[in-house]
Amino acid sequence: MSKHHLIAAAVLLLGAGAVQAKHLSEKNVAERIAPTAQVYVEGDNVPSAAPAAAKSSGPRTGEQIVAANCGACHLTGAAGAPKIGTADWAPRKAKGVDALLASAIKGLNAMPPKGMCMDCSDDELRAAIEHMIK
Ligand code: HEC
Repeated sequence: MSKHHLIAAAVLLLGAGAVQAKHLSEKNVAERIAPTAQVYVEGDNVPSAAPAAAKSSGPRTGEQIVAANCGACHLTGAAGAPKIGTADWAPRKAKGVDALLASAIKGLNAMPPKGMCMDCSDDELRAAIEHMIK
């Protein structure tokens, strides 16, 4: 095999690995969520520890929050939202993540409070912002 072919093969392998890792982690998330969902459908005897158990499935990643809650505006630039991956973020980045988080929590003009992710923790919002501006 030529050097070129070797590199192409390596890239393919890396790509396949990444896809598999993503599938695995999605599967893991589904598995971690499943028992919690069951606790809720079982109804009246929900132990008081249930909400804590639900939380222990861990915070969502910034990428997940953005995909589920922020992308509608920030992937498209809808309503004048700074678009992910563009220079729109340059002047905002200069404010620092703490200031961005503060305005994301309380809302800013057409940006709704918490980007309408009412169950997002401050840490999850921070992760989402860090994902958007990186
Ligand atoms: C309904 C559309 C919409 C959604 C959904 C939305 N945003 Fe925004 N966002 C905006 C708009 C519009 C602006 C620009 C506001 C301005 O500067 O006038 C903005 C600005 C921001 C800013 C910059 C704030 C600053 O101080 O400059 C951050 C950070 C931000 N959004 C985070 C988020 C996060 C995190 C989410 C998801 C949890 C989200 N947004 C969801 C519309 C949206």
